[in-house]
Amino acid sequence: MIKKEITPIEIKQKVYNFVSKHKDWYSEYERNFLIQNATWGINYSFVPDILRQIYDETDLLQEDKNIYTAFLGLLRQQFDINRNLVEVGGGRIPSLAKKIQLVQTHGSITVYDPKLCQLIEGKNLILKKESFTLHTDVSGKDMLIGFTPCEATETLLEMAFQHNLDFMIALSDQAAYGSDLSDYDQWDIWQENILYTAARGVERYGLGTLQYASLEDYDDPYPVIYNKRS
Ligand SMILES: C[S@@+](CC[C@H](N)C(=O)[O-])C[C@H]1O[C@@H](n2cnc3c(N)ncnc32)[C@H](O)[C@@H]1O
Repeated sequence: MIKKEITPIEIKQKVYNFVSKHKDWYSEYERNFLIQNATWGINYSFVPDILRQIYDETDLLQEDKNIYTAFLGLLRQQFDINRNLVEVGGGRIPSLAKKIQLVQTHGSITVYDPKLCQLIEGKNLILKKESFTLHTDVSGKDMLIGFTPCEATETLLEMAFQHNLDFMIALSDQAAYGSDLSDYDQWDIWQENILYTAARGVERYGLGTLQYASLEDYDDPYPVIYNKRS
């Protein structure tokens, strides 16, 4: 949700300026969508990812309702983040990874996304504009994370199991996943399959137990799953 003190005109101006400056990051359809829906986040935290990345980037979000910050808080609570992390599906702007790199004292965060547009790396931020696949080299990595990684969710889980890596994922919502799952029943089935696959894999591959968390206090609707070793 957007900071209360910012007016709709200011929001529209900020989003418009950002999209104009980074025209080549978005298709014409996406640019129109972003400009027409610039004020979506006044009343809702549940905002499409391409718009919420711009909100975060332009400092429009209320800190206590920023869903990337909320996920990072849970991640820090449950895991040591000063290790070598991989984020799958980081987005055009790697909003979550940028926050992680600011608080990591050592270790690294490597982001995979074929749609990455903002490609400014940091001391411990490594950006890979490519898909994360079952063949991606994860040697030396300790943990896989994903914030609504959509169709890469299954791959992320499989790689965590095969390489004995901790994981935390905010599961995608229907809208984020795209039109393939346009029917709510199909969406429920997809999520149930993921939960089943995750629970079974965690047990079978000795990653502890599967844990569930909700970040609804931050108006974050995405259920989070992660492993907990005993
Ligand atoms: C709903 S978006 C979420 C983006 C970002 N995590 C956020 O919440 O702002 C899903 C992202 O997953 C990416 N993606 C899908 N399949 C992928 C794969 N195999 N490897 C890496 N990224 C992938 C898409 O390009 C897209 O940017």
